[in-house]
Amino acid sequence: MSLIYNIGLLSGIQPQGVLRLEGTAQGKTGFLENAWLQIENGRIAAFGPMSTCPSLEGIDARGGMVMPGFCDSHTHIVYAGSRDGEFLDKINGLSYEEIAARGGGILNSADLLHQTPEDELYRQSMTRVQEMMDKGTVALEIKSGYGLNPSDELKMLRVIRHIKESVPAAVKSTFLGAHAVGRGYTHEAYVQAVIDMIPQAAEYADFIDVFCDEGFFTVEDTDRILTAAGHLLTPKIHANELAVSGGVQVGVKHLALSVDHLERTTDAEIEALRGTWTMPTMLPGSSFFLGLPYGRAKDYIKAGLGVALASDYNPGSSPSGDMRFVMAQGCIKMRLTPIEAFNAVTLNSAYAMGVSEQYGSITVGKRAALILTEPGWDLTKLAYQYQTPYIREVIL
Ligand code: NIG
Ligand code: FE
Repeated sequence: MSLIYNIGLLSGIQPQGVLRLEGTAQGKTGFLENAWLQIENGRIAAFGPMSTCPSLEGIDARGGMVMPGFCDSHTHIVYAGSRDGEFLDKINGLSYEEIAARGGGILNSADLLHQTPEDELYRQSMTRVQEMMDKGTVALEIKSGYGLNPSDELKMLRVIRHIKESVPAAVKSTFLGAHAVGRGYTHEAYVQAVIDMIPQAAEYADFIDVFCDEGFFTVEDTDRILTAAGHLLTPKIHANELAVSGGVQVGVKHLALSVDHLERTTDAEIEALRGTWTMPTMLPGSSFFLGLPYGRAKDYIKAGLGVALASDYNPGSSPSGDMRFVMAQGCIKMRLTPIEAFNAVTLNSAYAMGVSEQYGSITVGKRAALILTEPGWDLTKLAYQYQTPYIREVIL
């Protein structure tokens, strides 16, 4: 049992049973000034105002803010080496598609991954997980998708499982065999190979993903793959990053838990998502890095939907897992209020990876996966002064 007392501001309080926040609810959260919070068996046991504090033994927050840690529902942090060699091509004006067409991009990462022994892949990936946890991420989803053949995809899924077993953060695993056509396959043969991999992948993974976008996989491919996955794996789909792809609609059809990217969205996508359980998820880090439009998060919220934000941490389109920067971009570039952006990187992103019963808010019974800040911080300052160090401790 432990107690945090003298909390200047307890932020992100939600009642039990609230698993996502939509429409105007996304702009609200609960606060308590001058508070204490009790932790028992790794869970939030109780909290209240200092006037009712049960004791003064434990962690003195000295006026710092306590908030739920970040949930990052979309990452590709298991990869080998780096793609910094393509960084210059990008600076010199080549697009993501042009770099990929030259054999760079995802296939370049697949070649590097193929050459890298499994324990070394684990070691390299763990440095990124540690970096993310140090920055306050307490739950993360990790995708395969740099294997692109049965043995290398399984290698990735084993590494994700190994990470899951060795870190205090919650880890969810996604089979993204359909990330690009693997070397040596025709498009058709590779789609079939992905379908054939599903039963084995399902032993490791929680979710299935398809890069449903121009130049990668079509709506028909996606439909076939998700039909084959059936009840084995819940979909989370890459859609509408490079073009209006139809990925949102096919994702909704297959009850995807989330549809992600959405840099290119028309009103039809917003309409397709209304009244569904699918969480629209935007990845401002890839808009920033690739110079793509930012997602229309505000329009989704106006339409009564909820929005999640995630980092997309990967070597090609978003080499950063900094969720505080994601939150700041939500405010600065997507015009979300600090509370809307905060809910997008905590409770709604927890929902988008199926962990919002345990993570994403200050709620009795949830995991005590928390960020304790230095004195004087609040949610607005967090996004506004987005580079100033603020974390005193990540409690996991
Ligand atoms: O989410 N868009 C597809 N996949 C990743 C990029 C992967 C890569 O370039 O290595 C993304 O942006
Ligand atoms: Fe991605």
